[in-house]
Amino acid sequence: MIYSFLLKITFLCILTFQPFLCSQEKSGEVFLVFGGKTGWIGQKIVKLLENQNYQVYPANSRLENREEIEHEIDLIQPDFIINAAGITGTPNVDWCEDHKQTVIRTNILGVLNLVDIAYLRGIHITNFGTGCIYQYDESHSMGSGIGFTEEDEPNFIGSFYSKTKGMLDKMLRSYPNVLNLRVRMPISSDFHPRNFITKITKYEKVINIPNSMTILDDLLPVSIEMTLKGLKGNYNFTNPGALSHNEILALYKEYVDPSFNWENFTVEEQDKILKAQRSNNELDASKLLEEFPNIPSAHDSIISVMLKMKENLAL
Ligand SMILES: NC(=O)c1ccc[n+]([C@@H]2O[C@H](COP(=O)([O-])OP(=O)(O)OC[C@H]3O[C@@H](n4cnc5c(N)ncnc54)[C@H](OP(=O)(O)O)[C@@H]3O)[C@@H](O)[C@H]2O)c1
Repeated sequence: MIYSFLLKITFLCILTFQPFLCSQEKSGEVFLVFGGKTGWIGQKIVKLLENQNYQVYPANSRLENREEIEHEIDLIQPDFIINAAGITGTPNVDWCEDHKQTVIRTNILGVLNLVDIAYLRGIHITNFGTGCIYQYDESHSMGSGIGFTEEDEPNFIGSFYSKTKGMLDKMLRSYPNVLNLRVRMPISSDFHPRNFITKITKYEKVINIPNSMTILDDLLPVSIEMTLKGLKGNYNFTNPGALSHNEILALYKEYVDPSFNWENFTVEEQDKILKAQRSNNELDASKLLEEFPNIPSAHDSIISVMLKMKENLAL
């Protein structure tokens, strides 16, 4: 008797709450993610959005093809567009020095195409840009703790990659529908070749300079919150504080691989083996922290990353 009563109640509850349960399966917001099919950051964004039950479409269209993009956007009707597509160069940004027109076509013309199409349709777009558009100078000297703010003009054009990114950073300011996230030396707990930790552990010799860095495990979920909040404008998208190459490598040795060793060289020596210069800087993360005060400092967060890397190594 009690058993059948409980069964009836359960059945009634399911009927009553089913619409709410179903509506939680997929949220109403639709995301179109450029770079979501094959890109390192783009695929991570797609996974995060899927885990949060949003409707996510990795984009098929190429950035340089305006009509293709227009067609795809009109078909998908996204509420939000995320752009994590761009050319970074293979195996590194030196590639861009010899492929300038290709870089302009994607990183400037392509991104502007996408942003402009989104603007004409009133759609918010989050762009993964870079903070590698600055270098330490007299008013932002190394170790001073005075970082470049979003208001400072880019001052680094030592590589063609950074030059185009700096130009784009300035142009995007004229579009009121754009959130431009300035990523730097992205770090994650995977062993992906683009992970800054993996990169510097593979170098024969490495410089030792403090830099602002983006710990993706902390900040990619924040990028989704920023998008949903409809934030706009440039944001330095890094954990507060700066980490040096040697600090990271020492922690890597301590937590992940005790047999690891490395050798340093100077920036001048590094310049001799590279085609283009590399940007070194500290960014001021205050604007980001005003919105998200709980973002951990780079110093605190890097330990968690190393612990996760150790776990991932054991898998
Ligand atoms: N990783 C870093 O160190 C770093 C640092 C700061 C900023 N960022 C910026 O963050 C963004 C994503 O970086 P990532 O590391 O994820 O790069 P990634 O792994 O090389 O991915 C780039 C993505 O862009 C797509 N793509 C390239 N050209 C395209 C075009 N013309 N049209 C459409 N899609 C195109 C690629 O697709 P295909 O494979 O089909 O070509 C790929 O999916 C880039 O704009 C990069 O500048 C990266």
